[in-house]
Formats: sequence, structure tokens, C-alpha cells
Amino acid sequence: MDTENVGTRPKLPVVDAEVPFAFEELFFSRTDWRGVIQAGNTVFQRVSIYDWNELFQKPHNVIRHPDMPKAVFWLLWDMIKRGEPVGAYVKNRAKDGRYYWVFAIVTPIEGGYLSVRLKPSSPIFTAIVQEYASLLAAVPDSKAGAKAGVEVLSRRLSALGFDDYASFMAAALSQEIAARDQRLGRRPDAAIACFDELLTAAKSLLKQADLIFEAYARSEYVPINLRVQAAHLGQSGTVIDTISSNYNLISTEIRNNMDRFIASAASVLKTINDGLFLLCTATIQREAEEQFRREIALSQDAGGGDRDAEMRLLEAQRSHYREKTIDGLAAINDRAGSFRRDCAEMKRLAAGLEVTRIMGKMESARLAVVKDGLNELIDDLEAFQTTITENLKEIDTNNQNIQVKARKLATLVDGLAIEAA
Ligand SMILES: Cc1cc2nc3c(=O)[nH]c(=O)nc-3n(C[C@H](O)[C@H](O)[C@H](O)COP(=O)(O)O)c2cc1C
Repeated sequence: MDTENVGTRPKLPVVDAEVPFAFEELFFSRTDWRGVIQAGNTVFQRVSIYDWNELFQKPHNVIRHPDMPKAVFWLLWDMIKRGEPVGAYVKNRAKDGRYYWVFAIVTPIEGGYLSVRLKPSSPIFTAIVQEYASLLAAVPDSKAGAKAGVEVLSRRLSALGFDDYASFMAAALSQEIAARDQRLGRRPDAAIACFDELLTAAKSLLKQADLIFEAYARSEYVPINLRVQAAHLGQSGTVIDTISSNYNLISTEIRNNMDRFIASAASVLKTINDGLFLLCTATIQREAEEQFRREIALSQDAGGGDRDAEMRLLEAQRSHYREKTIDGLAAINDRAGSFRRDCAEMKRLAAGLEVTRIMGKMESARLAVVKDGLNELIDDLEAFQTTITENLKEIDTNNQNIQVKARKLATLVDGLAIEAA
């Protein structure tokens, strides 16, 4: 069965007015594997303005708003069907045609999926309202249009500075939590703030790795030109020829390492984004669970079904995502550790370059007559070597910083310590 298309919806009127709800209010709904509603809290039911029996056992598109691009739901289903959590801005339509916006975090849960939502207010939200409107205008509202829309959306997110949807949803959720905390007069979440520093450090890692790559590309021609110089020098160019071969060997090794090196730096950033999303998910799930506990203590109708069973599911999900967050933090520590090992390999190669450069310098001093072109090449080699050494030094500091912070975060999140990798 096509999971995301259960049932058909008649065209319903829309009203350009918002259904109010408080920043404090979180809502949740739970569906089966097909997206058919199984449970929810009173905020969900109240804001949608449907009676509980109009929601129960109905496909979740009962509250779909025509302003929502299909691409967003395509992405949502694609991720949850792969067992991954997903976050998305969603505009919903209440029974009376009014709308309400949420940031939804949808996670796989026993027997289906759980969506926990908060009221968005960050600057990313403002940008996304605009992006959704452009997306809707750009691609047809059809199944084929959904796939095309995903590509348009990825291009737009990339123009907004996000590498992919995962990094977008991590930034969006963390900024929504920060904006919400501020509106509610709460202190900023220390763990989320710490993640901001981690992200800055990881972005510098990638930048520094890129600078090394660019410097490598600039000096790629050096060995061949050294060889040409050696040929010009005839008999007296033998040492330069050897230097060129040495340099060529090291440079080839650097080339072979480069892709892994850049991928390794990118994977540090990826684990940090994933960890941030997990941490934020766990934070909101915990608060939703607390709200539901208060709700069922106050009202007999809350949850629309077996409230105790629902409570147990929420508790289990919250605990599962807390564990996943701890695993995510350990993954950051591990990835940063293995990137440090990749850096150590680069350092070894940079040291080899240094030896070659000194030999070249001595040789060019000895060959005083024809040293002009040679000197330039040795200068290029020196520039490359300096760029590698300086950036590796900064990478090292950043990397250590990331590992220290990931371990500190683990104690902040759960009082658990992570072994140094
Ligand atoms: C747990 C869960 C929560 C969902 N919440 C919403 C929601 O709040 N609003 C919505 O329009 N779709 C929601 N969906 C997605 C719908 O199932 C559906 O894909 C979407 O409304 C698009 O409907 P369509 O296929 O008729 O275009 C949710 C799905 C799941 C699994």
C-alpha cells in the first residue's frame, strides 16, 4: 500500500487567518506505518478544531494545507521509511479552513511514527515560508512534481548556506528551540549552545582541509617543471631530478590521501549536525512527555485512547532518543579522533616535503648560474608546505577542541562520560 496516500481528500476551503496557540504548547500525534492517526494530545485536537473521532483512524493528510509543497512530504516519508528521524516546517489546515504553522519532528516508533511539534518563530522559519511559496509556484502539484521539487528545494537550501537537508533541519530545529526559549523567558539550553561552538569548529576544519587541497592543486605542476629544469641542466641536474622524483612521490601520496582527508573532515561536520538534531529531538520529546503527563492528570479525554499505553510509548521514545543522542556524541568524538589520525598521516607527508624543499634550496644555491626558474619552483614548494603545516596546526587545535566539547556535552546531556578516542 502507498503509505503516504491513504484515503482521498475532497477540496476544502481555506481561510487566510491563523489558529492561535501558545509557544509553550507542544503537540504530538502518533500514526501507524501508513500515516493513519492512532493517538494525539489535546493541543493537537484543539488546534485542528476537529473532534477526536474525526481524527482517529484518519489519514494524517486530513489536516493537509494546499500551500504545502508535495516535495516536503516526499522528503519526510523518504527519511522516516528509512528509519531516520526528520524535521520539517509544516503549514496545516484546521477544520474551519484557518492555518497554523508548526516545526514537526517525525520519528519512527513501535508500530508507526510519532510527530512532536512546536510553534516556529526563528528567522529560518520566515525564510522558509517564502521558499515554500516559490517552490509551489515553480513545480506542479503532482507526484512527479514532488521529486522535481526536492531538487529545487535542495538547490535553494544550498543557496541559503545548507549543504543538505540534514544540516538544514538540524540548524532549523536548534534555532527554533533557541527562539522559543527566548520567547518563554527561559535560559538558553547549554548543550545546544555548546553545539553551536562545535559546528563553528567543524566548519573551520572543512575550510582548512579545502585550503590544503587548493594549495595542492596550485603546486601540482612543480615536479614536472623541476624535471624540465633538471633536463636543461644536463649532467649537473641529477640532484634536481632526484628531488623532483621525491617530490612527485610525496605529492602523489598527498593526492591519494586528499579525498579521504576531505571526506573525513566532512564526516566530522556531518556527525555534529546529526548529533545536534538528535539532542534537540530528545529535548522536545522530553518536554512533550512532561506536558502529556500533566494533561492526562487534568483531563479524562486527553490522548483519545489508552492514555497509559500512550504515556509508556512516549517515555520509551524519549529514552530511546536520549540514548541515540549519547551515541551521536560518541560518534562525534570517534570521527574527530579518526580525522586526527588522518591529519597525522598528512603531517608525515608534510615533513617529507620539508626535507625535499631544503634539499632543493641547497641545490639551487649551489647551481648559482641557472637558479632563477629553479628558485621560483622551490618557492612554490615552500608555499605549499607552509600552507599544509599551518592549516594542519589549526586543524589539530580545532579537532582537539571538538573532542573535548563532545565529551563535555555527554556529561551535560546524561552525566555519562565518553572515552577519549
Ligand atoms: C507521524 C506523521 C505526522 C504527520 N503530520 C502531518 C501534518 O501535521 N500535516 C500534514 O499535512 N501531513 C502530515 N503528515 C504527512 C501525511 O501523511 C501526508 O503525507 C501529507 O499530508 C501529504 O498528503 P497528500 O499525499 O494527500 O498530498 C504526517 C505523517 C506522519 C507519518
